[in-house]
Amino acid sequence: MDKPLTVGILGAGTMGTGIATVTARAGHRTILRDLTEAAVQAGVGRVRQFLDKSVELGKMPAEQRDAAAAGLTGTTGLDDLAECDIVVEAVFEDVALKAELFGRLDDICAPTTLFHTNTSTLSVTAIAAGSSRPERVVGTHYCNPAPLMRLVEVARARQTSDEAYHATTEFLAGLGKVTVTTRDTPGFIVNRFLIPFENDCIRALEAGLGTVESIDQAVTRGLGHPMGPFTLLDIVGLEIHRAVSLSLYEQLRDARFAPPPLVEQMVAAGHLGRKTGRGFYTYDEPRMFGT
Ligand SMILES: NC(=O)c1ccc[n+]([C@@H]2O[C@H](COP(=O)([O-])OP(=O)(O)OC[C@H]3O[C@@H](n4cnc5c(N)ncnc54)[C@H](O)[C@@H]3O)[C@@H](O)[C@H]2O)c1
Repeated sequence: MDKPLTVGILGAGTMGTGIATVTARAGHRTILRDLTEAAVQAGVGRVRQFLDKSVELGKMPAEQRDAAAAGLTGTTGLDDLAECDIVVEAVFEDVALKAELFGRLDDICAPTTLFHTNTSTLSVTAIAAGSSRPERVVGTHYCNPAPLMRLVEVARARQTSDEAYHATTEFLAGLGKVTVTTRDTPGFIVNRFLIPFENDCIRALEAGLGTVESIDQAVTRGLGHPMGPFTLLDIVGLEIHRAVSLSLYEQLRDARFAPPPLVEQMVAAGHLGRKTGRGFYTYDEPRMFGT
């Protein structure tokens, strides 16, 4: 890394804490922001837990963990992001909320600060329109779990400048990420393939083609995927899968994106995956990041 930056993360949920883990681990000063003290503390705790586990598994030297933990702080105040070189938003999938937050940050951050959005399905161009510096807004779609998955899709808004785009890909390379550049289009590349595939697997389960275990095995052993669709869905969260599916279905009007009835039932029952201890599989205790 050339020089440690100050990185603000908006949202201490699944993705915000995952991305905060990645930036803190890379040596950047990281400020995690959520709306309540409880959410902030829980998020900071999950990052620390992941770092500790990495040391325990021999994947990270203790000194790196200590430096990452020392560089990580949490806050509920947007003003605390004033010194950030980059702000990554990972709040709810709501275009008005994301656009409004960047608009508020215009008055708080330096004019040079880059704004990254981790949206999965929304228009980066529409989010950028909320800022008075839309040329500095870039879509950076991390894969879940962010600390473990190397790919980040980079989506340029129509307004994104070449300079902001290049600074973004350089920053992501410094985090150890592999980037692919995609058009600002619903679902980018990964979710345009992944969501219909996962919905097909769920429909196959509903139709009795196989069990959760046998379909996962067929996909890992037969297709060479690193994990089966149901293992992955449990990590992502069924309510997230439902929201992403619906958003893409509404925008693309293609039935392959419509969430199958089983997804609706599981969400209604609170069987959201690892985070609730039960999804397609059951877990002894709720877990994050697939650790
Ligand atoms: N979960 C995934 O697999 C995944 C993968 C890639 C991208 N994404 C995208 O990342 C974003 C976040 O998803 P998630 O799964 O982490 O959601 P999440 O619900 O786990 O977390 C969202 C967090 O944002 C917080 N928040 C809401 N408004 C805020 C504000 N004004 N300021 C600060 N924090 C605020 C919420 O309190 C919550 O803690 C979404 O845009 C989603 O589409 C999700």
